[in-house]
Amino acid sequence: MTTVQLRNLRLALYILAGFAVGGLVALAVLPSVRERVFAGASMKTVGQALVGGPFTLTDHTGKRVTDQDFRGRFMLVFFGFTYCPDVCPTALQVMAAALEKIGSKAEQITPVLITVDPERDTPEQMAMYVKSFHPRLVGLTGSPAEIEAVTKAYRVYYKRVPDPKSSAGYTMDHSAIIYVMGPDGSFRTHFPYTVDANAMADRLGKLLP
Ligand code: NI
Repeated sequence: MTTVQLRNLRLALYILAGFAVGGLVALAVLPSVRERVFAGASMKTVGQALVGGPFTLTDHTGKRVTDQDFRGRFMLVFFGFTYCPDVCPTALQVMAAALEKIGSKAEQITPVLITVDPERDTPEQMAMYVKSFHPRLVGLTGSPAEIEAVTKAYRVYYKRVPDPKSSAGYTMDHSAIIYVMGPDGSFRTHFPYTVDANAMADRLGKLLP
């Protein structure tokens, strides 16, 4: 091999190594990037009709329910899971506090938690969990296929990730957006889970007739 050939070979190897490192970095950050892109851009780019849709799930009393069962009332929908250490409890506390603040008008709104962890979140587990946040909070679970379908309809990102600290050995990564659906089932607005309860109460109060 000549010096030039050697140099070219070395250059080619550097380029290949660069691609490999770049690919690994992209894989490592992709879930969080996707989550952030979605949280920031969702409603600016996604048409209203594209969020929400039909679903069939099981509520925390074990009853099979569909989206049709919620017609005629607003829904405040959050996707999460009962073993979530902080994001889900925060979101659910804010939802409950906002409903409290708008008083009797809140009766027009059904707060809903849809699990992204159907394996652990049985109806019994959901029942224990929802009652600690709000007396009317509805917990919905289902088969993995049913959960996949409803998360797709609501453009929710979720992923099972290893977690040695959990006794089950895993936790769930998930987007944390609170959706408001109208009495006709159409998307009305959304909040980040970090929203302040007063701000949420204000917006909800204006949406309600
Ligand atoms: Ni969570």
